[in-house]
Amino acid sequence: MLAELDQIQRDALADIAGIDSDAALEAARVQFLGKKGRLTAASAGMKDVPKEDKPAVGQKLNEVRAAITAALEEKAAGLTAARDAAAFAGLDVTLPGRPLPKGALHPLTQVLDRAVSVLRRMGFAIADGPEIETEWHCFDALNTPADHPARNESDTFYFDNGKLLRTHTSTVQIRTMETAPPPIRIIAPGSAFRRDEIDATHLSAFHQLEGLYVDEKVTLADLKGTLEFFFREMFGADTELRFRPHFFPFTEPSFEVDLKFHATGRESKWIEIAGCGMVDPNVFHAVGQTRRDDAYDPEKVTGFAFGMGLDRLAMITYGIPDLRLLIENDVRFLAQFA
Ligand code: DAH
Repeated sequence: MLAELDQIQRDALADIAGIDSDAALEAARVQFLGKKGRLTAASAGMKDVPKEDKPAVGQKLNEVRAAITAALEEKAAGLTAARDAAAFAGLDVTLPGRPLPKGALHPLTQVLDRAVSVLRRMGFAIADGPEIETEWHCFDALNTPADHPARNESDTFYFDNGKLLRTHTSTVQIRTMETAPPPIRIIAPGSAFRRDEIDATHLSAFHQLEGLYVDEKVTLADLKGTLEFFFREMFGADTELRFRPHFFPFTEPSFEVDLKFHATGRESKWIEIAGCGMVDPNVFHAVGQTRRDDAYDPEKVTGFAFGMGLDRLAMITYGIPDLRLLIENDVRFLAQFA
């Protein structure tokens, strides 16, 4: 019996030494240590061993099992190490890594984020509306009559079903008031579309930021203070602003806001930066028609609204000379804002 056990150990160790795959190793384990393996079969012979020899044979059995188990484990580790070594062959881990080019937010997104964070601090919440709009939300409810030039075929993208690509974000004023009662204080950043010839200062798809504040006793002073604070946060405490009377159908009175622009090496000049005004009572009436209530009774509430071009804001912030740079996705341009 002792000789047989020795033989099993010798056979096992010789077999295992020659193995070069996980599958063959598993087969060897089954062959020697498995339930029907040679060692198991040999240990069945224990019952015929004379009583006085049992301890010695038992001990031998354990030794052989331990030796075979150790050989199997050592071989398994060896196979894994060989596999790892093959995978890393030819790889010099001391070489410097390849640089990962760093991405950055688009300049328009950076300006938008800044504008939104300033206005949120002032209590404005973000509102949203669809880009494909009804004439009602884009024009009629905003007190813009059917013969207004903005409604012209040549200025606006119409769909066959009568809907259109919104020409401004002022639509969100109507959408918000139709669904929420006053007081409201919202901003609505988003895309707007016009059939403009594309050049350095015009894109047919551009971006605006709309604002609306409606409550009891909102005044023109609130409007002025809000916009002054906003533009000083955006462009610095010494930013000069000018409110110039203007006309918009949906506000009365209405103003254009000009900003004193200091370009290096050139004479500073006033540039138009936003439109604004006090919400026209006709807008409140239109909203009341949809709502079928008098929540926006112009005798009870007043409000101000403003709208500005985000692309233009980016141009001023970064001194970008041509709007088309914002949509060309030229990495040489974009990388400057990383
Ligand atoms: N919607 C106007 C435009 O696209 C901008 C504007 C002017 C928005 C006056 C307003 C406003 O809210 O009060 O030209």
